[in-house]
Amino acid sequence: VAAVRTIDWDDGAVVIIDQTALPQELRTLRLTEVDDLVDAIRRLAVRGAPALGAAGALAVALAVRQGAREGWNRGDVDKAVDSVRRARPTAVNLARGVDRVAARLDDGPAAVEAEAAAVLDEDAATNRALAERGADLLVELCGRDTTGSDTEEGGLRLHTHCNAGALACVDVGTALGVVGAVHDRGLLARVYADETRPLLQGTRLTAWELDRMGADYRVVVDGAGPSLIARGQVDAVVVGADRIAANGDVANKIGTYPLALAAARRGIPFVVAAPESTVDPATPDGEHIEIEDRPDVEVVAWAGRRVAPEGARAVNPAFDVTPADLVTAIVTERRVVRPAAGERPA
Ligand code: MRU
Repeated sequence: VAAVRTIDWDDGAVVIIDQTALPQELRTLRLTEVDDLVDAIRRLAVRGAPALGAAGALAVALAVRQGAREGWNRGDVDKAVDSVRRARPTAVNLARGVDRVAARLDDGPAAVEAEAAAVLDEDAATNRALAERGADLLVELCGRDTTGSDTEEGGLRLHTHCNAGALACVDVGTALGVVGAVHDRGLLARVYADETRPLLQGTRLTAWELDRMGADYRVVVDGAGPSLIARGQVDAVVVGADRIAANGDVANKIGTYPLALAAARRGIPFVVAAPESTVDPATPDGEHIEIEDRPDVEVVAWAGRRVAPEGARAVNPAFDVTPADLVTAIVTERRVVRPAAGERPA
């Protein structure tokens, strides 16, 4: 768990942990202008669906403050808020956070800031509940003793993708929160963490969190995950989500879908841990989820240096969609839904 919140509000500024600097440096950025927040979101300095929800919520408070300083009218505030809403399209939490707080704009700055603060506080409480429910579910699905006394079967070997930890939220993670709860119960044998493109969110961020947790973990290249699963080295896959459609299709970081295919083939649970705020009843199925396309340069260059031949082009979708029939369970702070068994989250 991060010592400071991943994202917070401090006296008129949005303060974020700069996720592009970890693990080498734990530094924060203090943002006082809406354009800088949009930029931070686009370059993944703040990322992960619930953290984006918090960013969206705080963006409205930030726009009100900046507007007061710079003499904006209501139209200017609305335009600024909309630029944040559109900064990344796939995580429904971003638009949700913006819309929830923007609905308070007519009630004045204090009401706006209070609503934004509530979004952040609720996120932490929600994910704490989600983590415990998720840990219960995993031990049940993997046939382990929930008391942790059943040592004969050994601890759980979990596989996760991207970073769905405290860094992707406010101060408690979703999928990695579940992993943490399993670990706290003494039931975690090992976590495999995919490195994750484009910015090695797994290698840099998930590994950093697992290290602080004191968990036994191994970082693996994204392409290795399905094969580890096929060889029987994993008991369950647990990932987060950016948007869950009404039918149970799940959008998450590119590379999630191959894990679900491998899990189904091997007959191990594929579990999605996400708050209710990631379930989008307005999106009927995965085909209606907009998948963010990111720039070529994230694939053809590395650390500012071109690695592909001059003129090489890339395709760089940030997310994929796992169809509902491959999703053993979706666990939220309130419930467990089993899409592969025909249950729908909305
Ligand atoms: O591009 P990112 O790093 O924002 O993608 C993040 C993910 O895909 C996470 O798994 C998802 O947002 C859930 S975070 C709790």
